Amino acid sequence: MEDCTRHENSSVVHVLSSETDEIEILDDGKTVRDFIDAKIKLLGSVDNEEPFHVANLDCILERHLRWISNLPRVKPFYAVKCNNTPAVIRMLSALDTGFDCASKAEIELVLSHGVTPDRIIYAHPAKPLSHIRYACTQGVDIMTFDSKDELVKISRHHAEAKLVVRIAVDDSESLVRLSSKFGARLVSVGGLLERARKLGLEVIGVSFHVGSGCTGSLAFKRAIADARHVFDIASDHGYQMRLLDIGGGFSGNSVFQETFEDFSEVINESLDKFFPPDSGVEIIAEPGRFYVESAFTLAVNVIAKRVVANDKDEHHNGEKNIPDTVMMYYINDGLYGSLSFLINDPAHTKVEPYLHRAVENNEPRYRSVIWGPTCDSFDKVAESYWIQELRVGDWLLIDNMGAYSVCASTDFNGFERAHIYPVVTTKTW
Ligand SMILES: Cc1ncc(COP(=O)(O)O)c(C=O)c1O
Repeated sequence: MEDCTRHENSSVVHVLSSETDEIEILDDGKTVRDFIDAKIKLLGSVDNEEPFHVANLDCILERHLRWISNLPRVKPFYAVKCNNTPAVIRMLSALDTGFDCASKAEIELVLSHGVTPDRIIYAHPAKPLSHIRYACTQGVDIMTFDSKDELVKISRHHAEAKLVVRIAVDDSESLVRLSSKFGARLVSVGGLLERARKLGLEVIGVSFHVGSGCTGSLAFKRAIADARHVFDIASDHGYQMRLLDIGGGFSGNSVFQETFEDFSEVINESLDKFFPPDSGVEIIAEPGRFYVESAFTLAVNVIAKRVVANDKDEHHNGEKNIPDTVMMYYINDGLYGSLSFLINDPAHTKVEPYLHRAVENNEPRYRSVIWGPTCDSFDKVAESYWIQELRVGDWLLIDNMGAYSVCASTDFNGFERAHIYPVVTTKTW
């Protein structure tokens, strides 16, 4: 086993700072909309039409309060991969959540915001060796595994790790399934624990992920029962496990029939049945989109326009609609930027841009195609989208942009990533 020299972590408690994170404080009753209006006006005055996000930190507080009131036994470890904006990390750190990190860079980011290593779970079952070594030097001890090979790597590079076995669960009710890629089958858990014991490793718990965008709460019920089974297997192997990690999968908006409150009810019942409070098992989760999806609004500019003849078969029933023209609009963010989730996130397959400037409700709407800015025809944001006629220079707003958006954007074709402006009201501040 290789030695890892631990770095001392500062014990300074970092709180939100508007200077370091450039957080705008909305005072005198100003709203997010007021901020967007002012920003658009300002950009117009300096001949700048770059896209931008407004990150409403009040939404994150509201989500957190909803979490702790509905799942009081479950400590959230926010999944950094979902949105790694520094102000988001800082806000959640101030709210005392934990963090689920997938890599060295995510661990570095979270530590740089004053989070202590005990508030981090390195929740990736397939880790590069250098990242394991980095975790070791930083005292990030809790990490997941799902294979014998990973155990061998960890035993050589972080023998003091506190391990969590990630199990595969039934994720058939989720829009993004993860158990085909990660998670040990229940039948193989015994062998893994045997191997861990021989390697002298400490296994402290079980984790699962029901899949992102989970549409049915019973998935959690089944997975929690599976986890109980693994706790029992572990006890046969001499491990007294003490941590259950119920992963992510919680919706970030209200698109599903079952609400977060419905999910919580089922989860609480299952926890009370299989892991009652007196079991002494600590329960954590790794929510991503639940915390951030609704907090971000994207503002994009219409940089070009083309009016083309309509396909005769395309007609819209609304009286005020004019069926003979198709509008093509080109906006300055797209599938290679903040909107990449339209191709890689089955839980978020469409967006509904709306005009920033005031329009009469009875203004005619046109069938419109909205393209991203790159030269790639794949870069299409919306098709057959009925909206009032836009002008070049108009701004469009898109809500619910916080999950798997900014963290996955590129500057393909030289179009810069959208800037992020975090805002918070004086009350939350
Ligand atoms: C290991 C792990 N934890 C947590 C999450 C966050 O999931 P969600 O955004 O659905 O809450 C993911 C998403 O892929 C993940 O892979």
